[in-house]
Amino acid sequence: MVAESPSRVEPAQPNVPKHIAIIMDGNGRWAQRKHLPRTAGHHAGERNIHRILRACVDRGVEMLTVYAFSTENWGRPQPEVNALMALFEDASERETRNLHKNGVKVCHVGTMYGVSPQLQRSIQKAVETTRHNTRITLNVAFNYGGRAEIVDAIKRIVADGVTPDEIDESLISRYLYTATLPDPDLVIRTAGEMRLSNFLIWQAAYSEYYSTPTLWPDFSKDDLDAAIESYAARHRKFGKL
Ligand code: IPE
Ligand code: IPE
Ligand code: MG
Repeated sequence: MVAESPSRVEPAQPNVPKHIAIIMDGNGRWAQRKHLPRTAGHHAGERNIHRILRACVDRGVEMLTVYAFSTENWGRPQPEVNALMALFEDASERETRNLHKNGVKVCHVGTMYGVSPQLQRSIQKAVETTRHNTRITLNVAFNYGGRAEIVDAIKRIVADGVTPDEIDESLISRYLYTATLPDPDLVIRTAGEMRLSNFLIWQAAYSEYYSTPTLWPDFSKDDLDAAIESYAARHRKFGKL
């Protein structure tokens, strides 16, 4: 994934978001514009994760979360779903060593429900192998849906016999797939849509949003810098004055 060690790692600048989350949208349109099958767009999109992850390291970003497959994406035509599953398996087998070598900690955010046992094992291996790495954390939101996450959390809260007066925002956060992860500071969506599509609906309550028409496979380091620059100029108020 990160082909070689970054040439320069800068300490986080005061206004660089510590945690960036990206809705990587537009792979299909990217391919269509090139008269290629949609799958070619997904492959190009996967390659771009490595470029942007490396750029995040260089800029001192501590955590990158990428929305790779939503619980609603199962509803796509079966050949596309199959191709995506094959790509995820190939990518996790192919990239774990590289990620590990480059100090990347990989986390899975989502559910294994409906995922083939083989792919589950690949994901677990990537997470297990890289768990002590500290250079940057890459959270892969795979088979993730914000509503499903809240439903799962409520089920486990009830099953654990939690009483109503024990329930507060921090308890709910701990029951989400993201449990101990910090909330994203900046949510970027590529390909121009202005919606969350069920992404981190609880965690992004006070995140800053940035949308760009650039399609995900074309999203470059310069686009990342533009997003970070926009973030740096914002005044986060969290409901206060
Ligand atoms: C995002 O690209 C990748 C996934 C949802 C898996 P799309 O496949 O949604 O691309 P568009 O939106 O059709 O262009
Ligand atoms: C969101 O993109 C999901 C991912 C990027 C994985 P979609 O393409 O699925 O979202 P909608 O359908 O445009 O809302
Ligand atoms: Mg899309």
